[in-house]
Amino acid sequence: MLDLDRIPKHVGIIMDGNGRWAKAHMVPRVAGHNAGMKAMKEILKKAKTLGIEHLTVYAFSTENWKRTAEEISGIFSLLVKYVDSELKELNYNNVKVNILGDVSPLPEDALDRITKAVEDTKDNDGICFNICLNYGSRAEIVRAVKNMTGEITEENLSKHLYTGELGIPDPEVIIRTSGEERLSNFLMWQAAYSEFVFTDVLWPDFTPEEFERCIEEYQSRDRRFGGRK
Ligand code: FPP
Repeated sequence: MLDLDRIPKHVGIIMDGNGRWAKAHMVPRVAGHNAGMKAMKEILKKAKTLGIEHLTVYAFSTENWKRTAEEISGIFSLLVKYVDSELKELNYNNVKVNILGDVSPLPEDALDRITKAVEDTKDNDGICFNICLNYGSRAEIVRAVKNMTGEITEENLSKHLYTGELGIPDPEVIIRTSGEERLSNFLMWQAAYSEFVFTDVLWPDFTPEEFERCIEEYQSRDRRFGGRK
């Protein structure tokens, strides 16, 4: 049973398996990403219901540029579609959208929509929906070091990460779908004390029930290794 008194404040998700889902359903890869976007919407709703304060999703990594131009433009078109259809509802639900990553190389329409989503939701104080776009942990750390002034300490470096700048705490738990068990350059610094939950479910098949099960798994593990900060 889920312990509602011990809901993590910050959950990170590596949404993996859209491609394999598409293959299994014999549809184009972008159809897999479209199904993944639908799953993402449901998980955000569930996270809000559970009282999670920060949901951080890995939507596009610094390495994802290696994919075909068709797939890349497909993902960013989905982002445009997502903001156009969901921004009103995000606002209605008091969701604050944050973006982590260097968005400067993104296609213009995608950049335009995310700027709008961040601007329009900046005064909301409900759940923070943190979307990692052209994000990589190593690039984030290099950027932080370049921007740092003053003493070189863990605390000061943390403040210069995207998470530090946006006031996002370290994630208590990171979930990765599709059976892969790697961090893939996601929140490496911030994951120093995170629990990892891996599930074989492909991202488009990841349901709110499975999400709840993952949080339960985190809670059971946390209890066993109690005493950490
Ligand atoms: C990983 O699956 C998923 C991605 C690289 C993209 C995630 C994108 C979405 C969930 C939808 C788009 C939403 C926004 C807001 C941009 P994969 O393609 O690596 O799967 P595979 O490992 O099976 O090939």
